[in-house]
Amino acid sequence: MSIGVGAIALQGCLGAPRVRAAERQVEGAGAKRLVALGPERERILALASRAASSHNTQPWVVRVVEPDRWLVGADRDRRLPVVDPLDRELALSVGGFLENLAVAASAYGFEALFTPLGEERASPELVEVRLATAPAEPSAPERIARIERRRTLRKHYLDRPLSPEALAVLTAALGPRARWFPRGSHEAGRLAVAAAEAFKQQTWRDAAQSELARWIRFGDADARAKADGLTADTMEVGGLAGFFVRHFMDARSVTGKRFRDAGVDGTYEQARQGAGWLVLDAPDERVSSILDAGRRFARMGLLLRERRLAAHPMSQLLEEEPWRGSIGRELGLDGLPQFVLRVGYVEDYPEPVSLRRQVSAFTVGSG
Ligand SMILES: Cc1cc2nc3c(=O)[nH]c(=O)nc-3n(C[C@H](O)[C@H](O)[C@H](O)COP(=O)(O)O)c2cc1C
Repeated sequence: MSIGVGAIALQGCLGAPRVRAAERQVEGAGAKRLVALGPERERILALASRAASSHNTQPWVVRVVEPDRWLVGADRDRRLPVVDPLDRELALSVGGFLENLAVAASAYGFEALFTPLGEERASPELVEVRLATAPAEPSAPERIARIERRRTLRKHYLDRPLSPEALAVLTAALGPRARWFPRGSHEAGRLAVAAAEAFKQQTWRDAAQSELARWIRFGDADARAKADGLTADTMEVGGLAGFFVRHFMDARSVTGKRFRDAGVDGTYEQARQGAGWLVLDAPDERVSSILDAGRRFARMGLLLRERRLAAHPMSQLLEEEPWRGSIGRELGLDGLPQFVLRVGYVEDYPEPVSLRRQVSAFTVGSG
């Protein structure tokens, strides 16, 4: 996915309080479902939905079969057919949702037991989740806060090296398939150039840019109504430029030269910053392997803020040819790359600003 308005400087007016899904009235079947679930299980699902997703599409759906038995899968209407035609990122995002779900469940005194259901990535029924009662975790409030306060940051990374402790913690969360390429290494230099070039190529691909435009919420009203996608705030476009985005831009601007150039300039600048690159691969293309990579990425994401670290997925490398086909080989990976993450320390760690839909919007009943 491409978030490229980095070079436009603007400060968001959708502040931290708007992080939570809009407190709108839930009526009808949605309300009944939530009553049947009860507040704790609803909260677990709300926390699960704080997971990262490409373009913030939030491509998950949960069928509530019984209060403690859910079927979690992909919402086909939230696919990104142009940049993610094979639904790889979609499944990674659902994996992140499952990881948050497991962590949130443990904080509320449940163990979430997962059973894989199929091999089709865009299936609405990928995993059966059963909640079993378990002793409540002593670190529950901390775990919940980690989920609530996680966010993606893309700008102002410092070049300071990663401490050995931080590297050990992040790579432990990502598991044995993670590779670290520190700033100054040949591979890190290669990734910085390739990430920016792949971004540039995608930016000038009209179909990809039009798809991105469909997920940008230009005005506050649109953002609040849909509670998904990218806003000026989430794209870290602040100040005057943010005001401009909110009030004067629309989907057509995204395919204009000015918007594309600003994105490319910003990405070249970002790609040069940071302590290095983490690359996570999967052993094969099976759904369970992709979901697992998504879970590991989410697990690592919960450990960043307390270390003042940020990790920026730069996915165009894995979406655009020739990089998509060659980058794994070039880096000497034996599997298939799933995440290319630029990692670095940051001075300021603003609170999350990306929107989320209400639980009633991504759950369906058992019928
Ligand atoms: C599979 C995947 C791919 C992503 N690719 C990119 C990317 O290429 N560029 C980027 O800036 N953010 C990328 N992101 C981050 C999302 O834009 C971000 O998670 C989403 O907007 C929600 O914001 P939040 O993470 O702050 O909650 C990606 C996230 C996922 C899960």
